[in-house]
Amino acid sequence: MASRVFVTREIPGTGLQMIGQHFDVSVWPHERPPTSEEIVSAAQGCEGLVTLLSDNIDSGVIDALPRLRAISQYAVGYDNIDVEYATKRGIIVTNTPGVLTETTADLAWALLLAASRRVVEADRYVRAGEWRVAWGPTLLLGRDVYGATLGIVGMGRIGFAVGRRATGFNMRVLYTSRSDTKITRRAENELGAKRVDLDTLLRESDFVSLHVPLTPRTRHLIGKRELGLMKPTAVLVNTSRGAVVDERELARALSERRIRAAGLDVFEREPIPLDSPLLGLDNVVIVPHIGSASVETRSKMAQICAENLIAALSGQRPKYAVNPEVFER
Ligand code: GLV
Ligand code: GLV
Repeated sequence: MASRVFVTREIPGTGLQMIGQHFDVSVWPHERPPTSEEIVSAAQGCEGLVTLLSDNIDSGVIDALPRLRAISQYAVGYDNIDVEYATKRGIIVTNTPGVLTETTADLAWALLLAASRRVVEADRYVRAGEWRVAWGPTLLLGRDVYGATLGIVGMGRIGFAVGRRATGFNMRVLYTSRSDTKITRRAENELGAKRVDLDTLLRESDFVSLHVPLTPRTRHLIGKRELGLMKPTAVLVNTSRGAVVDERELARALSERRIRAAGLDVFEREPIPLDSPLLGLDNVVIVPHIGSASVETRSKMAQICAENLIAALSGQRPKYAVNPEVFER
């Protein structure tokens, strides 16, 4: 009998079809995400799960699914999954890195440019009927991106792709990284990027873009003290995970103009609560976690997600296991 697989949301492209050719699949039919209880009840008897970053797959969910052998995450980040516990239980966890690198870097740049040149604010201004003088010498002045200093926090795949775009803007690129990797070496050699500590990066950058995964170490990495180190003219861009930033402190810094602006794709709570102080501020551009949201990338992610799951449940090593140590024993 074919293994059973539960998919927690309709995903685009041919991924679901591929999974369906191998397994007995059921898909959560609603647009709203299932709760943990709903996942457990819908996935009873399943050996495979396809999850989204909004699904909380903790040890309770894992324990409630005793047949589970593979969790295929439809995302690059996987902080919503208790990977350590899954590993203990011998469950393979996979993700979809690589394909969304350039797409997410594009969005980081869209936010950076929009925040710096006040694009969204300007659009609101026009639509509100406030554009009454044809051309104003001081109307909606932003600041130059070209020639400025970009600080990349976390020089992984996405950080590098953001840095590569900066060369076209003739920017000086600073970065932080915990380790020396092929990517950090390429950043130095190909982009002329300079590695500094976080405090130096915050002090010297005109634009700070976050590209670290969310871990206990990076939770609130950017808090009151760090915001205080940034230039009053600086812009913060976050396309990583909301909780990398202390959002309350960010809202304060923005409203008191201790930093100039922010461009945010991710939030501590998603969807962002409608009473969030960020929503009342002009100097922040807010989009709803759409970093990887292009037709091409979302369908490639679905394909990789399917390939990962099919390999894992067929006893092969999937291309993108986040806990390959499960195979070492
Ligand atoms: C998106 O945030 C992802 O992790 O893929
Ligand atoms: C702006 O439109 C200019 O011509 O300076």
